[in-house]
Amino acid sequence: MSRPEKSPFYVTTPIYYVNDAPHIGHAYTSIAADVLARFHRLDGRPVFFLTGTDEHGQKIEQSAEKAGLDPQEFTNRISQHFRDISPLLDLTETRFIRTTETEHKKGAQAIWQRLIDNGHIYLSTYAGWYAVRDEAFYNEKELINGKAPTGADVEWVEEPSYFFNLSRWQDKLLAFYDDNPDFIAPESRRNEVISFVKSGLRDLSISRSSFSWGVPVPNDEKHVMYVWLDALTNYITALGFPEKNANNYQTYWPNVVHLVGKDILRFHAVYWPAFLMAADLPLPKRLFAHGWWTIEGQKMSKSLGNTVTPRDLVDRYGVDQTRYFLMREVPFGNDGAFSKAAMIQRVNADLANDLGNLVQRVLSFIHKHADAAIPNPGELTTADTELLTFTKNLLPKARCEIDQQALHKYCETVWQGVSEANRYVDAQEPWALRRSNPERMKTVLYVLASAIHHLALLASPVTPRAATKILDQLSIPKQNRTFSHFDESLIPGRPLPKPEGVFPRLALQDGE
Ligand code: MSP
Repeated sequence: MSRPEKSPFYVTTPIYYVNDAPHIGHAYTSIAADVLARFHRLDGRPVFFLTGTDEHGQKIEQSAEKAGLDPQEFTNRISQHFRDISPLLDLTETRFIRTTETEHKKGAQAIWQRLIDNGHIYLSTYAGWYAVRDEAFYNEKELINGKAPTGADVEWVEEPSYFFNLSRWQDKLLAFYDDNPDFIAPESRRNEVISFVKSGLRDLSISRSSFSWGVPVPNDEKHVMYVWLDALTNYITALGFPEKNANNYQTYWPNVVHLVGKDILRFHAVYWPAFLMAADLPLPKRLFAHGWWTIEGQKMSKSLGNTVTPRDLVDRYGVDQTRYFLMREVPFGNDGAFSKAAMIQRVNADLANDLGNLVQRVLSFIHKHADAAIPNPGELTTADTELLTFTKNLLPKARCEIDQQALHKYCETVWQGVSEANRYVDAQEPWALRRSNPERMKTVLYVLASAIHHLALLASPVTPRAATKILDQLSIPKQNRTFSHFDESLIPGRPLPKPEGVFPRLALQDGE
């Protein structure tokens, strides 16, 4: 995909239900969005990164009741747990939206009104199955052994309801997918959505009238908006829609990438574009559906008590380590298997041994044997220019991978540079040159410091703390830590601080 230089970039995570504490699945999407946001910022693009909490609906109302709290008080409390994962995981969101904010509610109602004005909503009665856990309607044929296809319990619901004429959008949706082959990724998910839409769409119930915890339907306060309609609109209300001159909406909406889990793709790939078309609003540019993590080979569930929280991960492995593992371990789009053993193996191999040792070896050597300053290089050999060309060329490659949300490939690419640099150290043996050819040793160390500069900048979206440490140790001025300074040569003679390790090795603990 090509994109104009410096165009704005907008990335969203799903807004998380506040019935539950944050877990590895939430951390996963948020970290992925953060990596994209950080990369594009380094690349000089204006970035808006949105995350937040989904706070209405029957599921939340019931959870609040169980907790013996008023729903607003309950959502205030749980929403804060989601907000807390940002400092924990070094997330750099621009905005954290809550659907109980007044501005969001007004925005959602404005979109409802547009659907009414355009003649796409009618009042009728819903009689069918509803799964509170999924906040989704199912018809009889979809049920498997009396449960939703997701395994959620269903209940029979019969109530007055407003409907959205989804069935009328089938052809337009199919034409849209056809005209925009990059709209849904990965390809396999796109195909699933297309066959689902081809199999026929039924009108969608978009209001509930048997409980009240939701956005009131304009002009009919007996109904609250269906929580998915309310929730999906957050992606534009967060940008100020429908205010006149909502600058963020104008700037960012045309460049959105929605990251979602595979289980909620249908809401984003079918309902959301249909709502927007019907409201005469522009459609999102890109949807990426990622897979699900299992824990030590099992589905994560409360009943199994095997939930892995962001706090568990950070306390045990570290922030950068958690971020790197989740991004690197599985192709973005596939399901992933989390295990302690895989985590420790990955962290020790890629972070402690490959990147950590490279940096530590080179910088301590410079500190001890090259006057603790960027060495003065002599003439470069073919091997020198080869390494520098290799690490320089990682940037355009990385851009392509980021544009495809191929986050695992992005990590792979950067770590290919790490391997090249390690091979170069082994081949050049600067420790041997110290006696045999001190001038050549300086050149080799200069080349290595330059390669490490490239690698640290490229790694920084994924492992921001380590990258900062490395760039500090290379005395790179803070304002120069962007891709526009990527090709700048290091200044010989610039003093370097005493290096310290960036990635400690992890040892297995009892029971791991
Ligand atoms: N509130 C809706 C989203 C509304 S967006 C307009 C919702 N919330 S959720 O909290 O239930 O789920 C949020 C995300 O977590 C989903 O993308 C879901 O795929 C993801 N995950 C939940 N469990 C997961 C794993 N075990 N692994 C990876 N992601 C998982 O749905």
